[in-house]
Amino acid sequence: MIDVSGTSCAVIGGTHGMGRAVVDALLDGGAEVIVTGRSADNVAAVRAELADRKGAHVLQADVTNDADTARLGELVADTVGALDFLHVNVGIAEVAPFEEVSAESYDAMFAVNAKGAFFSAQRLSPLMRSGGAIVFTTSVTNQAPSPTMSVYAGTKAAVRAFAEVMASELLPRGIRVNTVSPGFIETPTMGFASASSEERAALMEMGDNLTPMRRHGTVREIADAVLFLGFVATFTTGVELPVNGGLGHVAAAGA
Ligand SMILES: NC(=O)c1ccc[n+]([C@@H]2O[C@H](COP(=O)([O-])OP(=O)(O)OC[C@H]3O[C@@H](n4cnc5c(N)ncnc54)[C@H](OP(=O)(O)O)[C@@H]3O)[C@@H](O)[C@H]2O)c1
Repeated sequence: MIDVSGTSCAVIGGTHGMGRAVVDALLDGGAEVIVTGRSADNVAAVRAELADRKGAHVLQADVTNDADTARLGELVADTVGALDFLHVNVGIAEVAPFEEVSAESYDAMFAVNAKGAFFSAQRLSPLMRSGGAIVFTTSVTNQAPSPTMSVYAGTKAAVRAFAEVMASELLPRGIRVNTVSPGFIETPTMGFASASSEERAALMEMGDNLTPMRRHGTVREIADAVLFLGFVATFTTGVELPVNGGLGHVAAAGA
């Protein structure tokens, strides 16, 4: 556990999966944490689960809705005043061969993953203290191109580029900006909110076969990497940290 007591943090897209693991690690470490999600049901469930956790604030805020993003900024300012750590984790995925991708699907993924992530950071970065850090979530699709994930990969490549430029622009204010790039990680959605449990199981099996470590990662392993970038790696900015069991970097044994 990393001691983050006395810090104020926000996790954009923290109601389940990796974001929720980051929220739990921050609360366990003693931080005050603002948590957001889009689904009213998920937000209500997390609010109930965290009701007895000191320092947890759960807000429904859709990153594609400008008014919600403005309201989030106001809540952060009113509740904690300033932020030490911002984790922009939000992301959705839809798969299709590139010849079959619809304009609606393209727009939906770019609206959440790229535009939503960008403007969340733009709204909240003025509230960050010197010495603070931002961590975005990208994807292994940046390093290991995946058939049927052209648009998703493009959104995450955009996030990586945003982070690199923000790292330069926020350096004078003493704020570091990095990204964590997960491989196949077991989460309730596997990043595909609309996929059936059979499709998720098939994705998991495929991931276990493709990953040199021959297993999927855990949300705890992602949370550890996110908190490392946020609080420990104080001489690191502008980088993407792969957390993917060697996918795209290491030859699998026997391959
Ligand atoms: N799982 C994987 O194997 C994998 C691999 C590589 C990268 N990633 C990336 O890692 C991140 C986390 O993945 P995950 O599997 O943990 O995802 P997840 O369980 O589906 O969680 C996504 C989070 O984003 C929130 N969210 C979605 N759309 C939103 C919107 N419009 N406004 C605000 N919040 C919104 C969700 O909230 P609600 O559902 O409550 O609305 C949830 O809290 C994503 O960026 C994903 O693209 C995942």
